Amino acid sequence: MEHNFGGPWTLIKLDVLEAYLKAYTLALKNQGLTLTYIDAFAGTGQCTVQLGDSHVTEDGSAIRALNVEPAFQKYIFIENEKPKIAALKKIQTNYPDRNIEVIEGDANQVIRNLCASAHWGGQRAVLFLDPYGMEVDWHTLEVICATQAIDLWYLFPLSGLYRQATRKRINITEDKRQAINRILGTNEWEQDIYSHSGQLTLLDNDEAEYDRIDVEGLIDYVSERLKQLFPGVSHGLLLKRDNIPMFTLYCAIANEQPKAIGLALKLANYIIDSQPR
Ligand SMILES: C[S@@+](CC[C@H](N)C(=O)[O-])C[C@H]1O[C@@H](n2cnc3c(N)ncnc32)[C@H](O)[C@@H]1O
Repeated sequence: MEHNFGGPWTLIKLDVLEAYLKAYTLALKNQGLTLTYIDAFAGTGQCTVQLGDSHVTEDGSAIRALNVEPAFQKYIFIENEKPKIAALKKIQTNYPDRNIEVIEGDANQVIRNLCASAHWGGQRAVLFLDPYGMEVDWHTLEVICATQAIDLWYLFPLSGLYRQATRKRINITEDKRQAINRILGTNEWEQDIYSHSGQLTLLDNDEAEYDRIDVEGLIDYVSERLKQLFPGVSHGLLLKRDNIPMFTLYCAIANEQPKAIGLALKLANYIIDSQPR
């Protein structure tokens, strides 16, 4: 099946992930660790993206991860749509020498189960969170972080956030408020990202005068939230469509050992900083 989504930024994101995976398995190959790749929004293994007037089909995250040498000891692909699960199972048969598990279900729920049930001693994993939009709950990030064994690549849906966080605070609906609470893991954002733009009075209802910080400010806010949770967080790679900020790609390190954090961030930042802006 053809899986159409994204644009030029999709290929940049996949190139960054692939570069990290290649360096990761190479760096850890003689450490006696069991290495797992977890793709929580796995898709079909291929992606068709629009580049200008034409479409190109390229390997998606799952296939790119399977082609990495040295290989991971285990691959876990999570998807919630049946036709895509069927496509992933076909890939499983095409790669008989790879240990692949395909799990149908909601990524948040499956990750929570996986992270809580595995014994992480002697194990390390790279987990890729590649949602279309605001599907990832903050609590899922907390569970990932608690393993102290996962390097997380997270495509944060910046455009989803600034669409929900309306320019004027007065326009936020309860649905939008809840969606932002879920993705940021706090309800304090509302005080943090809005400020009064006019003259404060005691008599008027001046709610309409509360304006949101700009997109740069939102990016900083998200980066800070991630840094409050994870021991290490890379630079954010801003991905744009026609100059409009769409996503920020981060690598967040759950491992608490300074040496592991240092190495992972050096690599992730090098790859991120090498991308075209
Ligand atoms: C942006 S695509 C992922 C593309 C994939 N990483 C690739 O490189 O080809 C997002 C995928 O997540 C799936 N998805 C959406 N919500 C989900 C959820 N709650 N749990 C699991 N999968 C979900 C969609 O069906 C879609 O295939």
